[in-house]
Formats: sequence, C-alpha cells, structure tokens
Amino acid sequence: MKATVLHGSPRKGENSDTLAEHFLKGFNSTGEHSVEHFYINDLTIAPCQGCMSCGKPPHDCKIDDDMQPIYKSYKESDLILWVSPMYWGYLTAQLKLVQDRMEALACSGFDDKTFAVLLTYRHHYQSTASMFERIAPHFNIDLHILECCTKHPETGRDIPVEELPEKLDEAYNLGLKLGKA
Ligand SMILES: Cc1cc2nc3c(=O)[nH]c(=O)nc-3n(C[C@H](O)[C@H](O)[C@H](O)COP(=O)(O)O)c2cc1C
Repeated sequence: MKATVLHGSPRKGENSDTLAEHFLKGFNSTGEHSVEHFYINDLTIAPCQGCMSCGKPPHDCKIDDDMQPIYKSYKESDLILWVSPMYWGYLTAQLKLVQDRMEALACSGFDDKTFAVLLTYRHHYQSTASMFERIAPHFNIDLHILECCTKHPETGRDIPVEELPEKLDEAYNLGLKLGKA
C-alpha cells in the first residue's frame, strides 16, 4: 500500500505531526508500505487561480510548482493522511492551498481513496470534519477522522499530544486498522 502524508502545521514535529507519527507506527507494523511525506510549509505552492484549465482533458494543473509531486503521489496512493491543527476553524492556510489545487484531481484521480484526517484543536474541529463528511460520499472516499483536543480543561494551556496516551493509542490503532485493510 502507498500513503501520502500532507503535513499542514508549520510547527514540525508538534501536536498534529505527533499524532501522524503514531498513526504511521501502527500502519507500518502491518507490512511493507511506502509512505511519502509532504511538509507543506516548506514547499512553494501557489494559490489556485480559478482558470479551470484543469476542467478540460487531460485535467492537469498548468501551474508548475511543488504541487506537481503531490498530484503524482496522490494518484499513486491508496491512503491519504490529512494532518492539521485547526486554524480559525479550518485546515491551516498551507493545507487549504493544497486542497484548492486539488481541483485538478476532482475531474479525474481524486476518487476511491481512503482518507485519514488527523486534527488537533483547542476549541472546535467540527467545521473541518463537516467538509470532509460532505465530500466523502461524492468521491467514494473511505473517511476516518481522528480529533484531538489539546486544551487543558483547567489550566487552559496547550497540552503536548505526547501527554495524551489514549489519543496516541487511538492514532496507532487507526493506522493498524487501515494498514490491514
Ligand atoms: C493561528 C492559530 C489559529 C488557531 N485557531 C484555532 C481554532 O480556530 N480552533 C481551535 O480549536 N484551535 C485553534 N488553534 C489552536 C491549534 O489548533 C492547537 O494549538 C493545535 O494543537 C496546534 O497543533 P500543532 O502543534 O500541530 O501545530 C489555533 C492556533 C493558531 C496558532
């Protein structure tokens, strides 16, 4: 199986990345998989210009930037990991750029994937979960959402995900389940 991991946080190795790491430990324990990582904050990706040239065959995006290897990896993958903290109730701006540019896959190549969506948040994640729930049936996506609240209920401080063993287990077990699928 091949997995594409889209890391949305600018904070490399922090909460959402830690969930992804534990997911992948479970996933990789099930066999020889190939995993390709994209740290979106490190890439140069232009916003979609709405030109709709991708609407016509061969449905390619004409912007030649770091989105091109993501298209390739997406098409080759069975599993897509969307890894993001909530920023103002949505994916980070970095990942929203990628999502908009996926318009070029909407006509051909977006469908029939498994999505694991790993979201960290302090107050709410539902608006982002709703977007994935809305598109999943349309594109025949097998959708799995794992949310993780990082706000301490009493102190209000951001809890590092490493201090939430039940969430790390949940991520590991989801990876295990999807690796076996
Ligand atoms: C600019 C900014 C906006 C945020 N907006 C939200 C939000 O709308 N809702 C929410 O629940 N948490 C919000 N947060 C909190 C982060 O989602 C939370 O701290 C998350 O655990 C960070 O994950 P990371 O360590 O992977 O970057 C925001 C954080 C930042 C820096």
